[in-house]
Amino acid sequence: MFRKITMAAAALTITAALAAGPVLAKPIVIKFSHVVAENTPKGQMANKFKELIAEKLGDKVVVEVYPNSQLFGDNKVLEAMLLGDVQMAAPSLSKFERYTKKVALYDLPFLFEDITAVDKFQSSKEGQDMLNAMKKKGLIGLGYLHNGMKQLSSSQPLKVPADAAGLKFRIMSSDVLAAQFQAVDATPLKKPFSEVFTLLQTKAIDGQENTWSNIYSKKFFEVQPYITESNHGLLDYMVVTSTEFWMDLSDDIRAEVKKALDEAIIFGNQVAAEKAKSDKQKIIDSKRSQIIELTREERAQWVEVMKPVWSKFEHEIGKELIDAAYNSNK
Ligand code: SIN
Repeated sequence: MFRKITMAAAALTITAALAAGPVLAKPIVIKFSHVVAENTPKGQMANKFKELIAEKLGDKVVVEVYPNSQLFGDNKVLEAMLLGDVQMAAPSLSKFERYTKKVALYDLPFLFEDITAVDKFQSSKEGQDMLNAMKKKGLIGLGYLHNGMKQLSSSQPLKVPADAAGLKFRIMSSDVLAAQFQAVDATPLKKPFSEVFTLLQTKAIDGQENTWSNIYSKKFFEVQPYITESNHGLLDYMVVTSTEFWMDLSDDIRAEVKKALDEAIIFGNQVAAEKAKSDKQKIIDSKRSQIIELTREERAQWVEVMKPVWSKFEHEIGKELIDAAYNSNK
């Protein structure tokens, strides 16, 4: 009797399953978390990546983009990635300090003269090897993305290093950036990007360093009367994922995802080049902030005071790496 009932139940289950049609595999979800606005090089790159994945991989892979620190802020995203709560992010190169000291190279003041030199270094063997510097810690770099050169914004005009003495500057979580501001007798404060506007608005800090697109999109120029066009450092990104997530993808899906990402990065870099000009112009047009252009002599003073920071970090970063990066200016 019992056997008859069990067989009847099994037959019903099979009939129901056949009626429902083939079971579809759930798509792989890539949560892409970032801290900037959507209308920035990184925001645009992430949206483009989502679009390309939708086109190329249909319902096999879905990208969900979370901008403006909606999902995770700077200091949490990499931990969350290692826990599997987010699959991709593109933190600024200044935010990897806890995972590798090598990437701090990119924070050395006045290391790169322009983005052409940055491109040259990043595509060299040394630059590409750095993408694998965190593998043992469970993170893989999938590529670099530009934002651009940083400028100094402040509540006071900054022409020479002495003008910055005694002021408080927000910095990203990097000891190199801390040393850079200490070199001009200023006080550096490591704070998440999501807090910068309020810190400036409430005058809890006097200034910060950032790119034209971040100063514009986060409205820092509305609460900073002066911006010195110093081009003293670089703000670029590394697109990262967890080794575990990446290696769990099938070979063909991994190859397609990487292809889409490479295409999105090319697009993001075009946006970066364009925004470095157009967002600067929008700030000028707003008349909310005065742009200070440095004379050759004034800029030389900043270089002289800040460049000794290089030797302080030489043992951690490696002299050969610093030389290779510097030589990309030639
Ligand atoms: C970013 O561009 O991702 C943020 C940069 C910053 O923290 O200043």
